[in-house]
Parts: sequence; structure tokens; C-alpha cells
Amino acid sequence: MVRISSKYLPVKSTDFLVIGSGVAGLRAAIELSRHGRVLVLTKDEATAGSTGYAQGGIAVVLSDEDEITFHFDDTIRAGAGLCDEEAVRVLVEEGPERILELISWGAEFDREGTKLAFTQEAAHSKRRIVHAQGDSTGKEVERSLLSHVRTLNNVQKLDFHYTMDLIIQDGVCLGVYLLDEEGKQISAVTAKATILATGGSGFLYQQTSNPPVSTGDGMAMAYRAGADLVDMEFVQFHPTTLYLPGAPFFLLSEAMRGEGARLLNIYGQEFTHKYHPEKDLAPRDIVSRAIVSEMVETHSLHVYLDLTRLDPDFVRKRFPRICSTCLSYGIDVTRHRIPVSPAAHYMMGGIRTDLNGAASIPGLYAAGEVACTGVHGANRLASNSLLEGVVFGARAGKSAAEHARKIQKLPEQVRNPFQGRIEKGKDQISEVNEVRGILRKLLWDRVGIIRCWKSLSEAMAMLQEWEPFMERTYRHSKGLELQNMITVATLITRAALMRKESVGAHYRTDCPRKPETGPSHIVLNKSGTT
Ligand code: FAD
Ligand code: SIN
Repeated sequence: MVRISSKYLPVKSTDFLVIGSGVAGLRAAIELSRHGRVLVLTKDEATAGSTGYAQGGIAVVLSDEDEITFHFDDTIRAGAGLCDEEAVRVLVEEGPERILELISWGAEFDREGTKLAFTQEAAHSKRRIVHAQGDSTGKEVERSLLSHVRTLNNVQKLDFHYTMDLIIQDGVCLGVYLLDEEGKQISAVTAKATILATGGSGFLYQQTSNPPVSTGDGMAMAYRAGADLVDMEFVQFHPTTLYLPGAPFFLLSEAMRGEGARLLNIYGQEFTHKYHPEKDLAPRDIVSRAIVSEMVETHSLHVYLDLTRLDPDFVRKRFPRICSTCLSYGIDVTRHRIPVSPAAHYMMGGIRTDLNGAASIPGLYAAGEVACTGVHGANRLASNSLLEGVVFGARAGKSAAEHARKIQKLPEQVRNPFQGRIEKGKDQISEVNEVRGILRKLLWDRVGIIRCWKSLSEAMAMLQEWEPFMERTYRHSKGLELQNMITVATLITRAALMRKESVGAHYRTDCPRKPETGPSHIVLNKSGTT
């Protein structure tokens, strides 16, 4: 343990900072490159975020049979009354142009002949999901954005650098505190505008489709800096991830049900008709809860996803990545039913932004899953997230560039906020890992798909016991992430306790389904709640 002594930090400066290299961060960086020097920071390798994991595709109105108003209506319906209509309009109207732009930068989506191929996912009234290499849409989107970014001289990328916190001076965001790859050096990077594109927080849950980088860092940083966060109670659970002891909760795309796969209970019986007229293609929250109910009724830890009735050649061609992953665990999806259970998948809430990605702190912007633009309401419509990343990533970039014109000068010296604090070194790692594991189980068990006052209060009591961890200064990402995980877990639990109604993905057994009177959105910040 060492006391941190230096009064000032080494400083680097740039015009624009983008934290995160997923779809939202890369799209924002491309926009910003037209206006100045851009530095894209990421805590792991460039492709470690959720973007590369995306399977099903991108919802966008590009088919002759589709219309903007249909996509608008489907998004609003899935959002269960809590979408921001203006934000949804921006998403569906600007979406087609952003996707055509991706294609012009080299993204290759699957085609039938010369025309784009569209698939179906739950709660969409039309086949409108474009996809790539069958079930590797995110990888293709990321590949095309990264290769376009490489052609831009103004954009520099720095991987394996962990963003610790935001620099706020006189209420304005002027950059970030950064930890280098070895965890040796803390420095300051100043910028005229900073865009958080750090992704979601699915890794707070023991069962999740998300990669390990999704620890909610951006939300926690923004909260510490005083920004507003909103809709934090709305965590989306995907109905179908692989359920095999020892295997990761690998996603089995909703597009599989869109193409005819069926959900069966452990006795081989269909069951979703008991829960919703749209059966297997009902909105995600409903299908996830239907699966949980069926698992309870049949005393089982999973149900099955069954593709065995479909043409094996079609299945192998349409879902190559899923087929090969399942095969590596001994499951030939063309012949065997796949054991599946729900898992945490997506955070609808996040940093509250306006339609241009501006957060409530001047100089701070957010885009992608870390942000809450209001497009998803209480439940995101499938495949609307990559679209949100490109549409609002571009908007955030544009608006950040406008803000930057007002900034004349950046600070040359930045005080070290960690001075005098006791640093916890790598020797603390086993304790940190243990608490991370307990936290992830706690959230899954108590703040999961089905919640109630008792489970949420128990979670809150446990989270409060971990307050001492918040006082520490870590120089390794695992410890810093743990602090962010505690912060975000507390915000989710707090909002879930406050919302005394069941709506969308927030389902409380002790609260009615019909909305009560009260605020329609729960906004949390350091100074309280509105
Ligand atoms: P991410 O792609 O998650 O990127 C976050 C970036 O921030 C990463 O580079 C990460 O390393 C970096 N970062 C985080 N914290 C820090 C820090 N402290 N310092 C520095 N860097 C940091 N959506 C769809 O629309 N269609 C789909 O088919 C689809 N399928 C999905 C399948 C899976 C398995 C998953 C997990 C998600 C899927 N989604 C899908 C959701 C969608 O992929 C994500 O919501 C979206 O990719 C998020 O993009 P993003 O740019 O906001 O964040
Ligand atoms: C999937 O392919 O089922 C995931 C789609 C999404 O989360 O939007």
C-alpha cells in the first residue's frame, strides 16, 4: 500500500475524447474527425465491447414492404409507454441514411440476389432486420467502422487504457483521468468535449450475454461527476442464452425464432401461447418471464430452443457462428434441442441525454448503450441498439464539435485528485474478485427478471455493506470496475425500489401492472432524485 503524493498529473491534450470503441464510439469519432484531433480510448482491445457480439442484426426501414411509421409504432409499442417519441422519430427516420453510409464504408450485409436480405425478430411487424454473415452482424459493423477510422489521419486510438473518471472544472467536463496499460501511471487527458461510449452494464449479472468489459463504467463516472441518470430500473433480459454447466451464456439470437425455431419446455411441450398471443415472438420481457414461469412449473433450470424441424442446410447457412459454437459444446442444433435460459442483455437506462447526445454537464456527451436517449422506453425492440449507436453516435459527434467551438483554452495543469489517498495494489485482487462474484450473484438473484420490495431491499442492504470499497484508490482495472459495479448496482436497485409498478422489463410481484400516478421517469443524480 502506497500513499499517492504528487500534486499535479502529467497532462496530454486533444480536441475531442471518445471513450469506447464500439459502434457508438467509432461512429462519433468519424463525425468528430471532420472538426479536429480525436483520441479514442478503450480499456481492452478495440473489439472487446458488445458490438462485436451482436448477432441478429440491425432494424432499419430499407425494404419495399416497410414504412418508417411501422418501425416507429413497433418501437413505441415495445417501449411500454415510456419511449420519447421525438427520439424514436429521429432513430427511425435517420436510420436508413446511417446504414447506407455504413454500406458505402464497406459493411457487407447479407443479400438475396442483389437486394438486402431481411429477417424477423420479436415484436417487429415486418421483416426489417439486416444482418451479416448470417449471425455475425456486430463483427461486420465493427470491422467496417474500424477500417474506415484507420483511413482518418485525425483519429488516434489508444487501447488497453482505462478511463478512471471525468475531469470537471467549474461545472464543465474538460477530459478524463487515465490509467495506463500496466497500471503504473495515472495521467490527465484534456479535451474540449468528451463522449462517453462505454457500453452497458450486463456484466453486473451472473447470467449475462455481455462481455466482461460491460461493467457500467461510463454510467458510474458520469454519476460521480454529477450527471443525471435515468430509467436505471429497466434492464433487458434476453430469453435465450445457452444453458450448459461450464459454458458461457452464449446468445442464441432471436432471429432463430424469427426463422421458425420454437421454445419447448423440458417435456417437449410448447408453452408461450399461455403467456401472449404472439407466442415465441412476443416482446422480450414477456418471453423471458414466460420461460422463468415454465422453469418454475417444471422444476427445471432451462427450457429448450428447437430448430430440428427446420431444413439443416438452411440453419447451417443462416446461423453459422451459433451452429459452430454449439457444436463445440457437443450440440448439433440441426439434430438436438438446445438448452436455454434467460440472461441479462441490455441496459435501457443510462446517462440522460438530449437528442444530440448532450448530458446534463456541459462538455459531456454520451452515445450508445451507456446513454439513455429515450428511444427504448421500458423495453428495447430487438436490433434497435446498433441502429441507435450509429444514429446517435453521429449526432453526439456533431453536437460535441459545436460545443468545442466555444472552448478557447484547455487547462495546462491538472491537480491530482488522488493525492493523499491510500493506493490498493494488485495484492488486493483476490478480495476484489470475490466481491465481484458475490455482487453478480446478488443482482441475478435479487434484482433480476422478477423482483419485489423484499428482494430489492436485501440487495440494497448488501450493497451498502460494501461502502468501504468505495473509499479505496485502486490502480488496477478490476478494482476500479468493482467500484463502478457497486455504484451502478445501487442505482439499478434504488430505481427498482422507487418504481412501484410493473412495466416493461421492470416486473415486481408486489406491484400492479397498471401504472400508478407518479413520475414516468426516475432520474437519479448525486444530489438526489427527481
Ligand atoms: P460497446 O460495443 O459495448 O463498446 C463499449 C466500449 O467501451 C468498449 O470498447 C469498452 O472496452 C470501452 N470501455 C468501457 N469502459 C471503459 C473504461 N472505463 N475506459 C476505457 N474504455 C472503456 N443489438 C442490436 O441492435 N442487434 C443485435 O443483433 C444485437 N445482438 C447482441 C448480441 C449480444 C451477445 C450482445 C451482448 C448485445 C447485442 N446487441 C444487439 C446489443 C448491442 O450489441 C449493444 O447494445 C451495442 O453494441 C453497444 O454498443 P456501444 O458502442 O454502446 O458499446
Ligand atoms: C439477438 O440477435 O437476439 C439480439 C438482438 C438484440 O439484442 O437486439
